[in-house]
Amino acid sequence: MTKKFYVTTPIYYPNDIPHIGHAYTTIVADVLARWNALKGKDVYFLTGTDDHGKKIADTANKNGKAPKEFVDELVPKFKEAWEKLGIKYDRFIRTTDKDHEKLVKEMLQKSYDNGDIYLGEYEGLYCTGCEAYYTEKDLEEGNCPIHKTPVEKLKEKSYFFKLSKYEKKLLKLYKDNKKFILPERRRQEIISRVSEGLRDLSISRTSFKWGITLPFDKSHICYVWFDALFNYISGSRNKKYWPADIHLIGKDILWFHAVYWPAFLFSVGEKLPKSIFAHGWWTFDKEKISKSRGKVINIDELISITNNKDSARYFLSRATPFGDDGDFSEKALIERHNNELANKLGNLVSRVSGLIEKTGIEKTPNKLIKKLNEKKIDKLMENYELDKALNEIFAFIDVCNEYVQNKKPWETKDKKVLYELKDSILKIAELLGPFIPESAEKIKKQFSEKKIVKGEPLFVKVEIENGSNDNINKSGHLEKVKEKIEGIMTTNEVNFEEWSKLDLRVAEIKKVEDIDGADKLYKLTLDAGDVGARVICAGIKEFYKKEKLKGKKIIYFSNLKPRLMKGIESEGMLLAAVSKDHKSVVLISPEGSIENGSRVG
Ligand code: MSP
Repeated sequence: MTKKFYVTTPIYYPNDIPHIGHAYTTIVADVLARWNALKGKDVYFLTGTDDHGKKIADTANKNGKAPKEFVDELVPKFKEAWEKLGIKYDRFIRTTDKDHEKLVKEMLQKSYDNGDIYLGEYEGLYCTGCEAYYTEKDLEEGNCPIHKTPVEKLKEKSYFFKLSKYEKKLLKLYKDNKKFILPERRRQEIISRVSEGLRDLSISRTSFKWGITLPFDKSHICYVWFDALFNYISGSRNKKYWPADIHLIGKDILWFHAVYWPAFLFSVGEKLPKSIFAHGWWTFDKEKISKSRGKVINIDELISITNNKDSARYFLSRATPFGDDGDFSEKALIERHNNELANKLGNLVSRVSGLIEKTGIEKTPNKLIKKLNEKKIDKLMENYELDKALNEIFAFIDVCNEYVQNKKPWETKDKKVLYELKDSILKIAELLGPFIPESAEKIKKQFSEKKIVKGEPLFVKVEIENGSNDNINKSGHLEKVKEKIEGIMTTNEVNFEEWSKLDLRVAEIKKVEDIDGADKLYKLTLDAGDVGARVICAGIKEFYKKEKLKGKKIIYFSNLKPRLMKGIESEGMLLAAVSKDHKSVVLISPEGSIENGSRVG
């Protein structure tokens, strides 16, 4: 019987378009799925979206949409992104799928019937970003430790899951099964946290409606994490592939997967996943990827840096050991694209194909391939050491390049040497296939033809502009937005309806920062009232000193579509008056005191 391999990604919240962080887990899942298929396994790869919960309901509300309508618009963006990155999943599950909702209800009922769910009252500090309650001691300066934003005090009647009952059983699981939580240091972290004791978990909500109703009490909806985790079973083709071989997740959601998930499974009597692997976080130019702080990179931007999806996949797989944090920069991606893909791999392929085109090949035993340690690569992949597996493959590419150099087939016209090289390149393409599928396919096709010819270069080198993240959004976006708005404001034909689409609000400048490589722009962090903090890039550096801006109340356009400027996402535009000669600019400030977030109209 063929061995199966079932891999999952977290199901992402469709409250915004996907970014590099979501792409990372999904790319690694795709690499592992393709790798295991190559090894002859029956592979099943599940990804999808986490459609329910307060976070989605709140964001939909802010956008003036019903939650379902809102997520229905965003889900295709995830599917498109995965398509653009060459990701081939077997199912895209949504927690609003009927079969999923049915399974969650069954599981809730089962757990309830087993006596693991009881009614109580919950009062706690809730972070909507995390969809989780915190205790006072978890907070950092009163804020959520992950999102650094204020938590909400919530009080509601709630059903509780008897998590405390499973404390000992969980500890035993972590100790007996050393592969249940990977990497090892994460297992240790979870053991030490669980050893401090587990409290029962509130698993139902009454304060909003966007979720699956409890089968035993229709006035409650199911907590989003109970709902979401069961996607791994409802999406497993009627349990054909359950239990999963590996759940890939980010370290931020390890607790939910390593503690709640096995406890729920114990309660309903289902098998446990074999491993949960918590990978690290990517920063962007050394800062946390965060929309509210203007540090984010979406999939189109990621691909556009080298204009090659395979380079992005390759970079994310190789640049950092899976499990560790990594820093993304445009420069680092371009360097790997140029030096490793274009120079090492691309040159080998083009040189050898060019030589074969002129000289031809003659079949012979391939001695060169003995330098490739395939067993080692297999072992590394089994241990999720993707970066090291790539190092090995590239070490062999170096060996092949040296072989060409030393054997000089352009002088000797040695067809046997060229055969060995062709055979080795085909092997390289096979091994690289999971990482760079499109390019590997091209190589395989080129070298499997009867008549091998040189062909187009596989990777076109990219120039690094100023060594910074300037390739992203070369156009000064704010300028364009300004033109657009100035356009609207100066033409006589603006009717009231058009004008009223602009949402002007009062805010206060809390923080003023310079932006690397931008002479005219400041990065401003605003207190925008109810909507929290907003980051805006404004071209006012020539006109205002930082001290003058801090604490100033201003008026800004709050519903402009956010766009990247110098790698920072600007979420609006300040209102300012510009003199005729454009030499002075003054900000418009409200007179007297008025709350941040107040509407201007
Ligand atoms: N909906 C939950 C998961 C439920 S799984 C049953 C969720 N969704 S999320 O949209 O917030 O995505 C979380 C995942 O995105 C993280 O676990 C991680 O895999 C990935 N990342 C988000 N930002 C990231 C980085 N900056 N770096 C790496 N991965 C990160 O949580």
